[in-house]
Amino acid sequence: MAVLIVIIGVVLGVCLLSTALLRWNEMKYNKKGLPPGTMGWPLFGETTDFLKQGPSFMKNQRARYGSVFKSHILGCPTIVSMDPELNRYILMSESKGILPGYPQSMLDILGKSNIAAVHGPAHKNMRGALLSLVSPSIIKHQILPKIDEFMTSHLSNWTDQIIDIQQKTKEMALLSSLKQISGIESSSLSKEFMPEFCKLVLGTLSLPINLPNTNYHRGLQARKNIVRMLGELIDERRNSKETHEEDMLSLLMSGVDNRYKLSDEEIIDQIITILYSGYETVSTTSMMAVKYLHDHPKVLQELRKEHLGIRERKLAGDPLDWEDYKSMKFTRAVIFETSRLATIVNGVLRKTTKEMELNGFVIPEGWRIYVYTREINYDPCLYPDPYTFNPWRWLDRSLDVQNYFFIFGGGTRQCPGKELGIAEISTFLHYFVTKYRYFIFTNQFEYLFV
Ligand code: HEM
Repeated sequence: MAVLIVIIGVVLGVCLLSTALLRWNEMKYNKKGLPPGTMGWPLFGETTDFLKQGPSFMKNQRARYGSVFKSHILGCPTIVSMDPELNRYILMSESKGILPGYPQSMLDILGKSNIAAVHGPAHKNMRGALLSLVSPSIIKHQILPKIDEFMTSHLSNWTDQIIDIQQKTKEMALLSSLKQISGIESSSLSKEFMPEFCKLVLGTLSLPINLPNTNYHRGLQARKNIVRMLGELIDERRNSKETHEEDMLSLLMSGVDNRYKLSDEEIIDQIITILYSGYETVSTTSMMAVKYLHDHPKVLQELRKEHLGIRERKLAGDPLDWEDYKSMKFTRAVIFETSRLATIVNGVLRKTTKEMELNGFVIPEGWRIYVYTREINYDPCLYPDPYTFNPWRWLDRSLDVQNYFFIFGGGTRQCPGKELGIAEISTFLHYFVTKYRYFIFTNQFEYLFV
């Protein structure tokens, strides 16, 4: 009996304490003018529910509180906006004091000159330099031949083997970028680079607690190693008497035609940015395209028709050129449809630098804003029958220029690597559908190629 009373007492105590903590946290953030929503536990907020439930968490909160609500996720009081019009406004409002709001671990590991860490004139300079590196003319003359050479070799010898497509597309995204940046391919440097880069990526997604054996600590160490490797590469180039084939590094070192003078530190952060930004995005889109093509034989047939048509116009072994790339209309539609249906990027993060009014709500200084763009991809008004994989929808209407096309972000931070990413995925799909006739799904991410 006494034990039972103790148990009941403990349970009641825990319940009371929990309710008190939750109430205390709600009161703490109960400022006038804030949107509705819940703030969860002190310190942890609603991070566990957010991570566990993913998109369902957002949908449930929207059902309860509307398209703009408050929460406390990933260590910060946050406003989540699922309102397309407000999202557009926020993305255009950097000059009004709404800056990128990425987590501290990401900023520490990607470097202080990283494009997401800078704003104003510094952002203009880094972005200008990057846009010049991936201009249509540079993609046409310098990058596309490198991508083509890389993909021909990367996609050879898959026949009669079980291939882990996730692993292969990740390697592809990193190694292809390394080749474009500095001509590095399967050299010993790329072998040393790859594990360090994977640690760096994991570190950016961790809590910024610098203790041994944490992902954050490993990420910082990996950054140090990567900075050293890239620094040595820059010194080697500078001290070498040989003229080097033009690549992104040589362009950056020459000040991108003397228009953008970057310090060595900025060049290194710019390279890390290019590698990081194209890694998950290009690899996941390519992997998901393979999955959707496997599941939709009619789409695969149409895609193959486009690429076999290109091959018929060329001699065997001829590389893809700019005209070929520009003719890939259906391929582009497959890439957009994959990005839409799989939602490669759920949204982007911003933060307020002063108290401001948004949609009639008053948002305090220093709050994070999660510009959540995922749901717009499934809006039946924009995309009828939204859960069906239908690349043809992109051919009928110019859906990629409508106001709510956020797959590559929007406003002043819209993805500068969009065309580069599409060129990489298109070249991958070209060799994929022309070299292999069938691919049979065997296990998670694994396919047998014939
Ligand atoms: C399918 C591929 C890609 C997708 C879906 C994608 C998506 C995005 C999105 C949504 C943003 C906006 C981020 C924000 O507003 O905070 C962005 C920005 C950015 N992307 Fe991409 N991206 C892709 C490929 C690439 C590639 C290949 C590069 C390499 C150059 C790249 C470089 C960048 C950079 C540097 C930014 C930051 C721009 C700025 O802050 O001014 N992206 N990307």
